[in-house]
Amino acid sequence: MRTDTPQSIYLKDYTPPAWLVDTVDLHVAIHDTHAEVRATLACRRNPAGPGGALVLDGEELALQELAIDGAALAPFCYALADDRLAIASANGAPLPERLTLATRVRIAPDANTQLSGLYRSKDGYFTQCEAQGFRRITFYPDRPDVMARFTCTIEAARERFPQLLSNGNLVATGDATDGRHWARWEDPYAKPCYLFALVAAKLDVLEDRFATRSGRTVRLAVYVEPGKLDQCGHAMAALKKSMAWDERRFGLEMDLDHYMIVAVGDFNMGAMENKGLNIFNTKYVLARPDTATDADFQGIDRVVAHEYFHNWTGNRVTCRDWFQLSLKEGLTVFRDQEFGADVHSRAVTRIQEVRALRVAQFPEDAGPMAHPIRPASYAEINNFYTATVYQKGAEVVRMIHTLIGEAAFRRGMDLYFARHDGQAVTCEDFVAAMQDASGVDLAQFRRWYARAGTPHLKAEGRYDAQARRYTLTLTQSLAPTAYEKRLQEAGLAIDDGPLHIPVALGLVLPDGSDALPEKTRVLPLTQQSQTFVFDGIPAAPVASLLRGFSAPVHLDFAQGDEELAHLMAWDSDPVNRWEAGQRLATRILLAGIAAGGEGTDWIPDTFVAAVARVLDDGLRHDAALAAEALILPAEQVLAEEMAGAGKAIDPEAIHRARIALRRHLAARLRDRFEAAWAALAPTEPYSPDGPQVGRRALRNLVLGYLAESDAEYLNASVMPRLTAQCSGAGNMTDVIAALGTLANLDAPERTAALDAFHSRWQGEALVVDKWLQVQATSRLPGTAARVRELMRHAAFDIRNPNKVYALVRAFCAANPRHFHAADGEGYRLAADVITELQAMNPQVAARIARSFDRWRQVDAARQAHARAALERIRDCAGLARDVAEVVGKALEG
Ligand code: TRP
Ligand code: ZN
Repeated sequence: MRTDTPQSIYLKDYTPPAWLVDTVDLHVAIHDTHAEVRATLACRRNPAGPGGALVLDGEELALQELAIDGAALAPFCYALADDRLAIASANGAPLPERLTLATRVRIAPDANTQLSGLYRSKDGYFTQCEAQGFRRITFYPDRPDVMARFTCTIEAARERFPQLLSNGNLVATGDATDGRHWARWEDPYAKPCYLFALVAAKLDVLEDRFATRSGRTVRLAVYVEPGKLDQCGHAMAALKKSMAWDERRFGLEMDLDHYMIVAVGDFNMGAMENKGLNIFNTKYVLARPDTATDADFQGIDRVVAHEYFHNWTGNRVTCRDWFQLSLKEGLTVFRDQEFGADVHSRAVTRIQEVRALRVAQFPEDAGPMAHPIRPASYAEINNFYTATVYQKGAEVVRMIHTLIGEAAFRRGMDLYFARHDGQAVTCEDFVAAMQDASGVDLAQFRRWYARAGTPHLKAEGRYDAQARRYTLTLTQSLAPTAYEKRLQEAGLAIDDGPLHIPVALGLVLPDGSDALPEKTRVLPLTQQSQTFVFDGIPAAPVASLLRGFSAPVHLDFAQGDEELAHLMAWDSDPVNRWEAGQRLATRILLAGIAAGGEGTDWIPDTFVAAVARVLDDGLRHDAALAAEALILPAEQVLAEEMAGAGKAIDPEAIHRARIALRRHLAARLRDRFEAAWAALAPTEPYSPDGPQVGRRALRNLVLGYLAESDAEYLNASVMPRLTAQCSGAGNMTDVIAALGTLANLDAPERTAALDAFHSRWQGEALVVDKWLQVQATSRLPGTAARVRELMRHAAFDIRNPNKVYALVRAFCAANPRHFHAADGEGYRLAADVITELQAMNPQVAARIARSFDRWRQVDAARQAHARAALERIRDCAGLARDVAEVVGKALEG
């Protein structure tokens, strides 16, 4: 079959750059019709390079002038192609070892809908250079192992663009003719060009200071669209918390005099760590209690921390090449996770990470785009900013932390910076620092960087009462994925030996206590199969495996309902208490799915009782943990369970079974839910942190269950609360929880609430996104048609990534039952959006195209619809490489 997957590039083909750049002097002049970029590069032949021409990347640049050492280059000296400029000689003479290259190009930021390079958003100009956007600004060897010191002068109309920002320190400003002005910035640190940034806009700024522990003062600034200063406070506080945390935990200080965050409404991703000048999606800056939810506030904490932490893990030490992306992303996600754990709740943070891994990364690892955290090949790097590189990458770093311990991990980080500050390095360099600092052999552990797929871990336990001995046999397996098959076809070897897996284990005794003196023991599984023996165990224990989710694997462990209930009640590890509940619920739901989601006789009373206990516990102890425990396994996770068992995914039966279980719990536990609702009523003014976050989460969850009641109770008792909460709650957390529940109900109150919400918030873009999202994720029939209608609504704009994510991605990724509709309408909708969007914004279009990852796991009739949709995308004229790779791999299977 024709797939047309674009050409891949391979890690094994890495060669050092032929030329290095020591300094870059940029002049960017912004005009009404275009921007003009002059660049002066001090280049030097790399003594360790392969030799050859001076090759510069460049895309959509109109070349105006080209000179070496002051002399304009004659056309015969260079070759200009669509994506590169190759300079072979300097007017007949061989290129000197050192040279100054001067270029002048024109670019069209107003026409840049890809949001990569220099682009316009509303009334300002912004850049995004990772991964390969700098080549859309000027000719340059656009690869992260070329590190240079940058100066940048920006010139623009003063009235329209009062703020002119770039990396580093402001060194000069001045006036130009015609009401224009300029500013020159100098970054004292050499950096790869993907960390370059500039901004020219009219913005309000919130300023603050941070005193580093060595006594320097850093000026902090958060820049936002005029009128939004009242929504910046939380981001600023998060920045200061992050700075203090990185000093405390890792001894890492801010190294610049300025640290700026600029919020922009049109942005492909969450945020970007440009040196000293982070550019953020507004979603991760702007927040006020009435516009943002508790989850939004925490998202801001995490993303601000993430980008700040990149200053060391990413910027000071960067990646040699893009295959090493997880070197910075996995490590920085691990760091922001630890920050989240320290400033919020460690257990809740971890549970949310595990859930996200199961919903997004496990399916990725089982589908056509499966790849290791360090892929050996890719066609389009933008397609590899994935759950695997980020989240599984963080899991791999966490496993190192688990294996060597906190103290050795800290020494490993210190050694990593001592060795590699100012360098562009590889994942091996990171692991080597961890190994050398800890003395733990991590040679075998490196396989985690090279293997795709989620390993299976089979466990078998046996207790010998006579010998007071517990024996545990662990067996690992990992089947080759689509990725390994592709590598094999390319003639590349695969190292398929066993992985080094840290299995954190507890043995829970009948009285609920831990049998092991250290409570949790980390078993280092290195063989394919290994037996561990525990002596002096006084009674038959229930094994608690993978405490804290110590490894990203599927666990196959035959534990009975009573054993799981025992762990739910007693496990000293809160993550595994939660996990036991999820396993129990999954088992029940799979039985319900097998029954077509019909009836309720597959729901055991013991489960209802366990839920009641969790709820009681939550009221007495930790409401946030109880809220996590009461969320049933997601439809996507149940789908993976079916696929893993070799069955066709049945999205309808999954949906029905899950709702049936929710309704059953609502009916059986109504009084308990009502009591909890009353007990959890707010008692203090809103704050986005502290215990009230957990109380709100639990109360809204309970309200969601109550809304599953029979029509009579719903209308008489629940509906009034939902509508009141929608219109009367002072905080967005409660409002959106009620609106999201109402959006699933076929009632006149639904329309009224949605309309009122829209008219109240139509001027607040991020809140309008929530309005789109609750509709896109609705259970109601006709949701696909409503999404199409909303795409024509004035509130929607296909060029704005946040709008596409809120409406289309939410529909495709978070509403599996409607996306996988039997009539193929979900697939057609996605294909319509992707074909339209790919010409404008290939990165975002490719992200939507990833919704088709699991198309081969649904039944034959659905598959036929999905194939038709995929082929229609594939056959689109001039298909962008980003989308071509995703769709090509999906069709290859
Ligand atoms: N490096 C960014 C981060 O993880 C990711 C990012 C921001 C990005 N913008 C992008 C990646 C555009 C690709 C394209 O923090
Ligand atoms: Zn990052």
